[in-house]
Amino acid sequence: MIGGVVRSFRLYPLVVLLILPGIGKSYSSSTEYPESFVLKERQADTFFPDTSPTASPQPFLPLLAPSPLTPFTNSTIPKLSGLCTLNFTALSSMMTLTSTDCMAAFAPVLANVVCCPQLEATLIILIGQSSNVTNRLALNGTLASYCLSDFEQILVGQGANIGLAKICSIHSSNLTEGSCPVADVSEFESTVDSSNLLASCGKIDTVNECCEQVCQNAILDAARKLAQKAYNMLSLDGSHVLSDHTTRINDCKGIVLRWLASKLDPLHAKDVLRGLSNCRINKVCPLNFPNMSYVIEGCSAITSNRTGCCNAVESYVSHLQRQSFVTNLQALNCAASLGVKLRKANITHDVYNLCHISLKDFSLQESGCLLPSLPSDVVFDVTAGVSFLCDLNDNIPAPWPSTSQSPASSCNKTIKIPALPAAASGQNSKFSMNQYVWL
Ligand SMILES: *[C@@H]1O[C@H](CO)[C@@H](O)[C@H](O)[C@H]1NC(C)=O
Ligand SMILES: *[C@@H]1O[C@H](CO)[C@@H](O)[C@H](O)[C@H]1NC(C)=O
Ligand SMILES: *[C@@H]1O[C@H](CO)[C@@H](O)[C@H](O)[C@H]1NC(C)=O
Ligand SMILES: *[C@@H]1O[C@H](CO)[C@@H](O)[C@H](O)[C@H]1NC(C)=O
Ligand SMILES: *[C@@H]1O[C@H](CO)[C@@H](O)[C@H](O)[C@H]1NC(C)=O
Ligand SMILES: *[C@@H]1O[C@H](CO)[C@@H](O)[C@H](O)[C@H]1NC(C)=O
Ligand SMILES: *[C@@H]1O[C@H](CO)[C@@H](O)[C@H](O)[C@H]1NC(C)=O
Ligand SMILES: *[C@@H]1O[C@H](CO)[C@@H](O)[C@H](O)[C@H]1NC(C)=O
Ligand SMILES: *[C@@H]1O[C@H](CO)[C@@H](O)[C@H](O)[C@H]1NC(C)=O
Repeated sequence: MIGGVVRSFRLYPLVVLLILPGIGKSYSSSTEYPESFVLKERQADTFFPDTSPTASPQPFLPLLAPSPLTPFTNSTIPKLSGLCTLNFTALSSMMTLTSTDCMAAFAPVLANVVCCPQLEATLIILIGQSSNVTNRLALNGTLASYCLSDFEQILVGQGANIGLAKICSIHSSNLTEGSCPVADVSEFESTVDSSNLLASCGKIDTVNECCEQVCQNAILDAARKLAQKAYNMLSLDGSHVLSDHTTRINDCKGIVLRWLASKLDPLHAKDVLRGLSNCRINKVCPLNFPNMSYVIEGCSAITSNRTGCCNAVESYVSHLQRQSFVTNLQALNCAASLGVKLRKANITHDVYNLCHISLKDFSLQESGCLLPSLPSDVVFDVTAGVSFLCDLNDNIPAPWPSTSQSPASSCNKTIKIPALPAAASGQNSKFSMNQYVWL
C-alpha cells in the first residue's frame, strides 16, 4: 500500500494559466499538493483560444487540444495491484515531484527535457532502493509489469498525464535487466570496480560533466565489464546471447545506474541521474524538421525578395516550436540543424540575421521560453500555480552556421559560441512575465 502518496483533487474542464513567476521565486517550494488544488482555473468556455496576449489568429497551441485533462476527471485513489515490491512510500515526495513534472497538459511539451528524465530517474531510484532488500538490480518480467502499472497509477492519481508510458517510451521490460547478464548485487560488485564508480559518480559536476565525462566514462566502463560476462557464460544461458552488443551495453548501463542509486540517498541520486540525462538532452535538437521545401523556395530568391523568404522562415520556425519546450543549448542545436539544412540547399545568406530569428524562436510560445540547460523541475506553488524556470535574458540571435557542416560541439573551447545563454553557467536569469493559456 502507499500511504501518504495520494492526494485527491479534481480538475474538470478548465484552462490552466501557466504563469512564469517573478525573479528569485523560491525553487525549493513544496512539491506537495495542498489539500485543495488551486491551479488558477477557469471554465473552458469562458476563455476560448484566441486570447493570447498578441491575439494570434491561429488556434492557440493546437497540439495541446483538450484531451490531456481527462485524467483529472475521475477519482484519484489508484487501483494498485498490491503485487509490486517497490517501496513507493519511501519515495513519496519524489513521486509527487514526478507527477508535477509530468502534469497532464504539460507532459507532452516537457517530455524531453523535464518529465521523462525525472520519470526515468524515479524508476531507477525505486529499483535501486529495492535492491537493498532483494539483492537484485532488476525486476523479473512479471513483477515489472505490475510495478510499472502501479507506478503509473500513482502518478496519474496525482495529476500526471495518463499516457506517460507512451510519451516517455517506457515499457515494463525497461524495469528488468534486459539483455544485461548481471543483475545480482554481489555479482555486480565483484565484476566492476565499484569504488571507482562511486568515486566518479557519487557526486557530479553538472556544468562540466557533459564535456569532461568523468562519470559517464566510469559508467560505460562498468557496463562493458558487465556486458562482457554474457560471452564468458555463453554456454550457460542462450537467451542472453541473442542481443547485439550495443543493446547489451545499454541495458547494462541501466543496471549500473540502479546500483549507483542504491548507494546514494534519493535526492542526491536524483541530482546525479538528472545531471547525466541532461548531458544527453543538450547534445541534440529534439525537434522534427518537416518538409522545408517552401522555405527553400522562398529563400532561393533572397536577394530579390526578402519578405517572401522571411515570411517562409518565420512560419516554418513558428510551426517547429509548437512541438516542445527546448533548453537554450537545444535551441542552439536546432538553429544549427536548420541552418545546415538550408545551406545544403544552397541558401548561404545569413537568413537568421536577415529575418531576426533568435534562439527563443525555437522554443514553444511566441514570447519565448528557453528552459535552462541544467536540470529543472516544474514547481507547483499555491500562489503562483504551476511554473517553471525560463532562462531568458533577452533576444539572443540564432547563430547562422558558417559552413554546411554541423558545427563543432560546444565542448570545444577553441570554438567561440556567440552569446551562449547564461544557463550554461547555472544562472537563471530574469523571466518575462507571461500568461500562457493551455487547453
Ligand atoms: C472515468 O470513470 C468512468 C466511469 O466511472 C470511466 O468510464 C472512464 O473510462 C474513466 N476515465 C478515466 C480517464 O479513467
Ligand atoms: C517502505 O519505506 C518506508 C519509509 O522508508 C518504511 O517505513 C516501510 O517499512 C517500507 N516498507 C517496506 C515494505 O519495506
Ligand atoms: C540499505 O540497507 C542498509 C542496511 O540495512 C541501510 O543502512 C541503508 O541505508 C540502506 N540503503 C538504502 C538506500 O535504503
Ligand atoms: C518474480 O519475482 C517475485 C518476487 O521476487 C517472485 O515472487 C516471483 O516468483 C518471480 N517470478 C518469476 C516468474 O520468476
Ligand atoms: C525501454 O526499452 C526499449 C527497448 O526495449 C527502448 O527502446 C527504450 O528506449 C527504453 N526506454 C527507456 C526510457 O529507457
Ligand atoms: C515537400 O513538399 C513539396 C511540395 O509540397 C513536395 O513536392 C515534396 O515531395 C515534399 N518532400 C518531401 C520529402 O516530402
Ligand atoms: C515577395 O514574396 C511575397 C510572398 O511570396 C509576394 O507576396 C511578393 O509579391 C513578392 N515581392 C516581390 C517584389 O516580388
Ligand atoms: C548548389 O549549387 C551548386 C553550385 O552552384 C550546385 O552544383 C548544386 O547542385 C546546388 N545544390 C542544390 C541542392 O541546389
Ligand atoms: C576544436 O576546434 C578547432 C577549430 O575548429 C579544431 O582545430 C580542434 O581540433 C577542435 N578540437 C577538438 C577537441 O575537437
